[in-house]
Amino acid sequence: MVCRLLGRALRKAANAADVVGRGQRTITAADTSCCSHQHSRCMSSTASSSRSVNLKSDTVTEPTPEMRQAMLTAQVGDDVYGEDPSVDKLQKTAAKMFGMEKALFVPSGTMGNLISLMVHCWERGAEVLLGDRCHILLFEQGGLSQVAGVHPREVKTFADGRLDLDDLRSKVREDDIHYPVTSLICLENTHNMFGGRVLRPDAIAEISSVAKSLHLPLHVDGARIFNAAAALDVPVSELLVGIDSVSVCLSKGLAAPVGSVIGGSEKFIHRATRVRKLLGGGLRQAGVLAAPGLIALEVMSKRLHEDHILAKRLSEGCHAMKELGLDSSPETTETNIVIFSLDKAVCGYSAAELVDALGEEDPSVADESGKRFLLFAISDTQVRAVTHYQLTLADIEAFLARLRRTLSRR
Ligand SMILES: Cc1ncc(COP(=O)(O)O)c(C=O)c1O
Repeated sequence: MVCRLLGRALRKAANAADVVGRGQRTITAADTSCCSHQHSRCMSSTASSSRSVNLKSDTVTEPTPEMRQAMLTAQVGDDVYGEDPSVDKLQKTAAKMFGMEKALFVPSGTMGNLISLMVHCWERGAEVLLGDRCHILLFEQGGLSQVAGVHPREVKTFADGRLDLDDLRSKVREDDIHYPVTSLICLENTHNMFGGRVLRPDAIAEISSVAKSLHLPLHVDGARIFNAAAALDVPVSELLVGIDSVSVCLSKGLAAPVGSVIGGSEKFIHRATRVRKLLGGGLRQAGVLAAPGLIALEVMSKRLHEDHILAKRLSEGCHAMKELGLDSSPETTETNIVIFSLDKAVCGYSAAELVDALGEEDPSVADESGKRFLLFAISDTQVRAVTHYQLTLADIEAFLARLRRTLSRR
């Protein structure tokens, strides 16, 4: 029933979605055809709660009923001794999907990145080249310096998430006792702060060949790399060709309650296991977390395109409110993150003020658009909205109606 309604709503939106930019995919009947009982929305335990729609992040997703059942019945053992069969299965499955020798379950994406950096920068005095808007640099408390003793060096990042290779080459250190030793290059795919932009295989091949010529390993913060794979309709392993290590979050759009998986060579994972223990990330009966993680990889990764359809619609809806001082870029909305910008002189709101206004219920209307809509202000003029499996097209339409009404009132 829910799926039939979703299908109807999507078809309605397809008719309404008259602003479809170059290279964009129009919503088609094929997108709406469901459903096996595995359909994500059929599995949703709680859609957005009755009076709020949570667009803050895909980290707000709750485990599906199938995940909860798997947690209940998971076979477990002491994973610090490598004796948890559920963790073992998750790691083997992940390594196969990544096309890498080995994988390791870790508690979070932040720890996954930190462990990876510490393994690549095994010797003191190391420096990492990383994008100037990347998550490792901006939102991980400077863990690479604070914990790992590694020096960060920023590289200019283009709006599509690619590093500027000329800038990168110019930042590689000469062998000089005054300098740290350039030891690693980091990428982010998809790129969070650039609105979920996807790094494509050709761009990855280009930087990989530069890294090889410089004899530097390449790490990818792939917190949302399954979104990139879904957007390109390729296996995730295709985005890891020429990459030395990756950290992938299970607890974002893939909806597992906890955890990330890092992948790399056997030698890399051997060292990573040591570092994980050092950081307090060695977990005992972790199978209760690995079991939903396996569903995240095998089931939830296959439905991410549904989130991308919702994000595209949201972005189109924002773009259509230009005259109200709002804008967004549907042609660059490739995955599940939408960043829309505000012109306060026109709309009367800073990003924080708009987020506050939308975060309150609107008692003047009885319909869905009167709910609380939760979002994230990422600067004075930019708001981030993220779609995920617990949202429906009806939620997005209600959000757009509320946005239009709020902006029209000022
Ligand atoms: C791109 C990116 N990398 C890493 C992380 C860190 O993941 P975690 O919250 O699991 O530590 C996030 C979290 O939002 C992220 O967006």
